[in-house]
Amino acid sequence: MKKIAIFASGNGSNAENIIKYFQSSEQIKVISVASNNPSAQVLLRSKKHSIDTFVFNKNELNNGIVLKKLKKLEVDFIVLAGFLIKIPLNMITTYKNKIINIHPSLLPLHGGKGMFGINVHKKVFESKDTETGITIHFVNQSYDKGAVIFQAKCGLRPNTPPKQIQKKVHKLELKFFPIIIENLLNEPN
Ligand code: GAR
Repeated sequence: MKKIAIFASGNGSNAENIIKYFQSSEQIKVISVASNNPSAQVLLRSKKHSIDTFVFNKNELNNGIVLKKLKKLEVDFIVLAGFLIKIPLNMITTYKNKIINIHPSLLPLHGGKGMFGINVHKKVFESKDTETGITIHFVNQSYDKGAVIFQAKCGLRPNTPPKQIQKKVHKLELKFFPIIIENLLNEPN
C-alpha cells in the first residue's frame, strides 16, 4: 500500500477529487491532508471523506516538525494541490522525486512566486495566449521549476475571460491529476 499525503492551502477541489479517485483502491490511499490554513475548505472536504487532517504553520514546515509527522504516518508520496508555501530542502531531499505539484498553466509560462490560481489565468488573458493548460511536475527548491512529468493543453478563443480560462483548466486538472499520480506510484522504483 502506497500512502499519499496531500498539501493544500485553500478550496481543495483537486484534493477531494484525488481522495475520491483512490477511495476504493487497495494499492494507493490518501491517508492525510495537511494545510497551512486552519480555515481552508480542503479540511472540511477531507473530513467528509474521513481523511485525517493536520494544520501547521510556516515555522513547523521549515523546522522539521511537518517532516517528522510525515515519517510517523509513513507517508510515501506527497501531492501539492493548491499549496502556497515553498517546500523546505529537508523535505525535498527526504522525498526526492516523491513530491509533485500541479500548476494551472503550461510551464515555463506563467509560473513562479505569486503565480497562483486566478492570477495565472489573468496573465494568460493579458498575454493573449491562444492555448493554456496544466503542468504536473516534480517539486524542487525553485517555484514551478522542477522536472515536468505531464502537460495537457486546451485551446482558447480570443478574449476568453480569466474565469472561463480557469474553468477549462480546472476540467483538465480533475481529469488528469489522479491518473498521473496513479501512474507514478505504479512505476517500479
Ligand atoms: C488549482 O487550479 C491548482 O492548479 C492551483 O491552485 C488551484 C487549487 O484549486 N495551483 C497553483 O496555482 C500553484 N501555483 P483547488 O484548491 O480547488 O484544488
